[in-house]
Amino acid sequence: MIEVSNVTKAFGRGKHRAVVLDGIDFTVRAGEIFAVVGPSGAGKSTLAQCINLLERPTSGSVIVNGEELTHLSDRKLRVARRRIGTVFQASSVLQRRTAAENIALPLEYLGVTSAEVKRRVGELLDRVGLSDRAGHYPFQLSGGQRQRVGIARALALRPSVLLSDEATSGLDPQTTSSMVALLRELRDDLDLAIVFITHEMDTVLQVADSAARLEHGRITESGRLADLLIDQSSALGAELRPRHRDAAAQAGDDVWNLTYDSPNVPADWITRISADLGVPVALLGAAVQLVDGVSVGSATIGVPAHASATLPDLLTRYGLSAGTSPSTRELAAVG
Ligand SMILES: Nc1ncnc2c1ncn2[C@@H]1O[C@H](COP(=O)(O)OP(=O)(O)OP(=O)(O)O)[C@@H](O)[C@H]1O
Ligand SMILES: [Mg+2]
Repeated sequence: MIEVSNVTKAFGRGKHRAVVLDGIDFTVRAGEIFAVVGPSGAGKSTLAQCINLLERPTSGSVIVNGEELTHLSDRKLRVARRRIGTVFQASSVLQRRTAAENIALPLEYLGVTSAEVKRRVGELLDRVGLSDRAGHYPFQLSGGQRQRVGIARALALRPSVLLSDEATSGLDPQTTSSMVALLRELRDDLDLAIVFITHEMDTVLQVADSAARLEHGRITESGRLADLLIDQSSALGAELRPRHRDAAAQAGDDVWNLTYDSPNVPADWITRISADLGVPVALLGAAVQLVDGVSVGSATIGVPAHASATLPDLLTRYGLSAGTSPSTRELAAVG
């Protein structure tokens, strides 16, 4: 478990002082993947460096499994930092070392015997699905395989926290999905607390149990992913929900974006709403996702504008919720 509490980071002094992180608070439990999203320059990488203490926070505390790291001496910090494994973007593996030699690095620094290194590296290669690539150099590996090497190396010292800063960014969707599957497997098998930093919303939806949005050094919103997705007032939820194309709607239809907790809504809700309204309702897009054991539904429907007024009551009756108002104008532009 990692507890980040009131962490602030400022660079520079006097009139050059810039506050990059301002009062960051969050907790990630063992077995949880916590995503941090936010625009470029928000402070995400600075946060990563403050979490693994490559940078000391200006104030606040970082507590891993009950031990506060920010005030440790350099020597004690070196030991304590083993509890946090870090994976960065693609380039962090050493080009002149094989996959196995890259993974062995942290163990060699610790002075682990070569027999033990060999055994542990074999185990780690197996763990990330690279047993048949042990002797390959990074240039002989795919982007996804290089990231697996990075993950195996981060796990070498058996950390309880895994920190990933844009580790899947720039990978193709299929490779990203397999990395996501690996991270979820590691979360469950090793009971890791994973802090997953990214600017890719699609990936968050696939990987995270909970998420926070970082903007100008502050967390503007955070929560369980399932809650964020269902909550129509959540800006982060809106960003995370898969978008449905509304171009297929008839001109003059109102377009409504709906969310629902799937098991609690009748499967034929759209037919029922059509019947109750006495007009056809067009299903423009829908998706149901299993998030944290909760089936979260999202749908976009088109309803003739004259029937829109009675829709909110029907939605409530069937357990669906909608944004405050439908978007007719947006649609007019589509034609
Ligand atoms: N060592 C430093 N000295 C001064 N300013 C810094 C330093 N490191 C980062 N910053 C500033 O902190 C801000 C946040 O940078 P950071 O790299 O944390 O953003 P980010 O959210 O990771 O962005 P990206 O999505 O582009 O990776 C930027 O304005 C950056 O210029
Ligand atoms: Mg960054």
